[in-house]
Amino acid sequence: MEIKTVENAKSVESDILVISMFEEGKTSSDLANQYALGEDNFKGKFGETYLLQTYGKEPYRKVLVLGLGKKEEFCPNKFREAIAKAVKKCMQMEAKRVAFSFDGIDFDYSEQFTLGALIADYKFDKYKSEKKDNRIAEIYVQADESEVRKAEKIGAAMTFARNLANEPAEFATPSELASTAQDLGIETKIYNREECEKMGMGAFLAVGRGSAEEPKFIHMKYTVPNPKKRIAIIGKGICFDSGGLDIKPASSMATMKDDMSGAACVLGVMSIIRELNPQVEVHGIIAACENMPGGKAYKPGDILTAKNGKTIEVDNTDAEGRLTLADALCYACELGVDEVIDLATLTGACMVALGTHAAGIMGNDETLVKNLIDTAKRSGENFWELPLWEEYFEGLKSDVADMKNSGNRWGGASSAGMFLKQFVKDVKWAHIDIAGTAFLEKPQKEFISGATGAGVRTLLKYILEA
Ligand code: BES
Ligand code: MN
Ligand code: ZN
Repeated sequence: MEIKTVENAKSVESDILVISMFEEGKTSSDLANQYALGEDNFKGKFGETYLLQTYGKEPYRKVLVLGLGKKEEFCPNKFREAIAKAVKKCMQMEAKRVAFSFDGIDFDYSEQFTLGALIADYKFDKYKSEKKDNRIAEIYVQADESEVRKAEKIGAAMTFARNLANEPAEFATPSELASTAQDLGIETKIYNREECEKMGMGAFLAVGRGSAEEPKFIHMKYTVPNPKKRIAIIGKGICFDSGGLDIKPASSMATMKDDMSGAACVLGVMSIIRELNPQVEVHGIIAACENMPGGKAYKPGDILTAKNGKTIEVDNTDAEGRLTLADALCYACELGVDEVIDLATLTGACMVALGTHAAGIMGNDETLVKNLIDTAKRSGENFWELPLWEEYFEGLKSDVADMKNSGNRWGGASSAGMFLKQFVKDVKWAHIDIAGTAFLEKPQKEFISGATGAGVRTLLKYILEA
């Protein structure tokens, strides 16, 4: 799908011209009124569409009126969602050239238009023997050229992340993530098992022991002369989470190929960073492995030593993500960066609390957390702060080690956050739990089921605005 910016979309030869209308309001032009709008009880409710024929009188063969809902409820996020609906509708009609013309919208919609169109255009059909080619070839829109080109890159990074997270665990292995990182054309160091052992990553390596796949610790680095800031982004990279010896029931295991969505986000961000060229140093870090119950698997009761020397009693082998992140956090803190941000499909508890509509965020620096929440909102994602109070460490106290990896069932997202905090030193840090938002079991808003590329839009915007 190619997006072209034009002066006047109405003069472009197209299969469909999309125009918009607020609920009970007027259309963005007199066009629809001219074609007897309202006859079929079309009110412009949010996401509703109404199709008109032009009978060869116009450069466009049809007009699709897109309902934007109530004007007082309208915002950039609603706009993006509506665009995705319109694009999907045009795809159903097998339109190849679609033009868009809006007026009466009082913000620059270029970015959200582009993201809405690209998100709607996404499909994961590489394993289907019959592929349906209903893609739109060209989109014409009256929008800001440079904003569209920038948003297109962000959209491409989301697609990159979605493809990786949708890929079955059989293919998206730790080694595959490592070679994906190496192919991005930025400075990358891959540490194998032996090298991780030398670095003292006892927590990460324990998780990977029950799998036939070798764990890989991935460090990508993008840098510029005199960076304004140095940021490390860490993605949970559990390529498959069976639960380990504390094995998951089938219903919970079904979607666990998505447990590397944090890693996919980091790879998505790093895949486009050179093209976006922010004046910031960005480290992308992934401790990639599988959590499997093989003969060498780590066991409940084992005591592990993390990279910072802290000891951990294994209470539950299914609380594995925090173990891998513990060593990744220690590694990141040693880089001397200003900020560390981790993204992880970490807890079912976060999903219970916030559902699939928001990621949980917590951290040790109020400004960083607030900035990320604000950036998320403007990017079209929802981050919601969860508490990170000392009380949440209570359940993690161990009789035999410095801590346990799990304990009290209640407040699970915050206790996981408190666990991570034990491995953060002298740096501003935020932790984003994307367990609910990374992977959808059914379509939601602009997304089809499957991976959403959670975190990509927000992180890129955050980096670009640094
Ligand atoms: N990967 C899961 C968390 C998860 C659950 C992500 C549902 C996406 C959807 C994580 O490793 C896990 O198993 N967490 C346990 C922790 C518990 C054993 C303390 C959980 O949330 O049940
Ligand atoms: Mn788990
Ligand atoms: Zn997991």
